[in-house]
This record gives sequence, structure tokens and C-alpha cells, in this order.
Amino acid sequence: MTEIIDGNAVAEGIREELTSCVESLASDDERPTLATVLMSPDPASETYVSMKQNDCEEIGIETRDVEIDLDAPASDLFETIDDLNADDDVNAILVQSPVPDHIDYREVLERIDPLKDVDAFHPENVGRLVAGYPRYKPCTPHGIQQLLAATDVETEGKDAVIVGRSRIVGKPMANLFIQKAPGGNATTTVCHSRTDDLASKTREADIVVGAAGVPELIDGSMLTEGTVVIDVGINRVDADNEKGYELVGDVDFESAKEKASAITPVPGGVGPMTRAMLLYNTVKATSLQTD
Ligand code: GUN
Repeated sequence: MTEIIDGNAVAEGIREELTSCVESLASDDERPTLATVLMSPDPASETYVSMKQNDCEEIGIETRDVEIDLDAPASDLFETIDDLNADDDVNAILVQSPVPDHIDYREVLERIDPLKDVDAFHPENVGRLVAGYPRYKPCTPHGIQQLLAATDVETEGKDAVIVGRSRIVGKPMANLFIQKAPGGNATTTVCHSRTDDLASKTREADIVVGAAGVPELIDGSMLTEGTVVIDVGINRVDADNEKGYELVGDVDFESAKEKASAITPVPGGVGPMTRAMLLYNTVKATSLQTD
């Protein structure tokens, strides 16, 4: 029987543990606070940010909500970040991407105090991860590690194939899989849009992570019996329904399920874990700042 990995249930367990951490910090007058900054031309960003804020409030993390006009100069965003960096009541800062074209996102990432960078996108935090002593782990790959652990999937000595080389998922996932620590010690291959014969790589895998942003790129014919399949994709495709679209992953769920020993659904797999790990990083940031 193929196990359908329940990301909502695993995330709920993590939120419960974090709730008591938040209460204990709050009793020392150190209630965690996450500031979100929204200056995004993507209409979906507003929904994502409000989901992150609701998640925080549910477990007692305070939020600050900063919205900046899309046509405001870059200096407005940078001054906002400077103010949040300097504010001792703010432990964590997240600038939702994408930002408008007239703003260099790299400059944004480098402006955020690395101690408050709960996305773990600042080059200092990326460098620490690559060097093997992460401060914060990026939320999606960390969530995947937690999901594998909760499903009793051993990574040590296994062949992990990541499809996608993004800064947010593919690259940090590879770094976590090769680290000498629980959830690591995997023999790791990173495939991407220029990979020849992708199926020959995925067929060799014990664990496949689909994170290319291509709808249903990976199907059952590309998998070997018993593979663990983690689907990071959330792709909007046209559909003949009320909304006119549906969300599909990077994995063709129905055919992949026939081969997989365990597989994440979309939605309800990786997504809730990404959100839970943002809460985890916010709690961690608060602890690091109170030590
Ligand atoms: N936009 C899409 N995903 C993310 C994320 O994980 N963090 C931020 N800051 N922006 C995003």
C-alpha cells in the first residue's frame, strides 16, 4: 500500500510543540514577533502573507504587517527594512517575493539583518548552510526533511534525486541532503531543465523531490517501485471548473502513486510544512536574540 504523506497532520504536531515554546518565551516577556513586508506585483502574494500571519497568530506569535505601494521608490522598502532591523521588538522579518521590477531583490535580501532572516535567504545564512553550520534552514527543504523523518524515511546512504535547482528549494535541499546530520547523508543528484534523460536519473532514486515548477513533469513511468516521492510543485493549470483553473504538482499523482511507497499530495503535502517551518524559524530567531 502506498502511504499518502499527510503534511497537514505533521505540521499540526509541529505547531503544537511550537505553541508551548512560544508560551515559555512569552512568560519571559519575549513573545516572538514576525514582521511581514508586502510589496509584490503577484496578487497571490497577499493571500500567502495573510496565511503566514494567521499561522503566527494561531500559536501566539505576534505579527507586524507592512504594506508598501508598488510604485514607491526602492528607498521606501530599504528604510522599512532598516527600521525593522533596528526594532528590538521585531525578531523576524520576511519580505514577500516577488518584488516589483524596479527593485533588486538581491539588495533586499542583503539588507535584512541575518539574525532576523527567517527565510534563510541572506547570503550569510546561505553560506552557513553550505558550510555545514546552518543558523536557519530554509522553510521548504527543512519541512521536507521533517516530513521524511515523520514518515520514518531514512535518508542515510539513499539516492536522492532533486528535480529543480532553485535558490529556495533545489539548492538548499541538496545541501541538507548531503550534510552529515539526521535527514542528510544521502547521495544527492540535482537535475534541472538542461538534464539529459531525466527519467534515467529519477529511476535510480530512492527519494525523488519534484521542485521544477513544471506541471506533472514526473510520472509513474519515470519511477521505480518503492520510491518515496515528494512534490513541491504548486502549478496553476486551466481546468473546466468554476474557477477556470486547478492546482497541480510537479508530479502526476495518479501514475506516481502506483509506483511510490509513499507520496505527498498537492495540496496537503509540502505546503503546510513550509508554513510550519517559518513558525519554527521565528521561534528560533527569538531564542537566539534572547540568549
Ligand atoms: N515568495 C514565494 N515563496 C516565498 C518564501 O518562501 N519567502 C518569501 N519571502 N517570499 C516568497
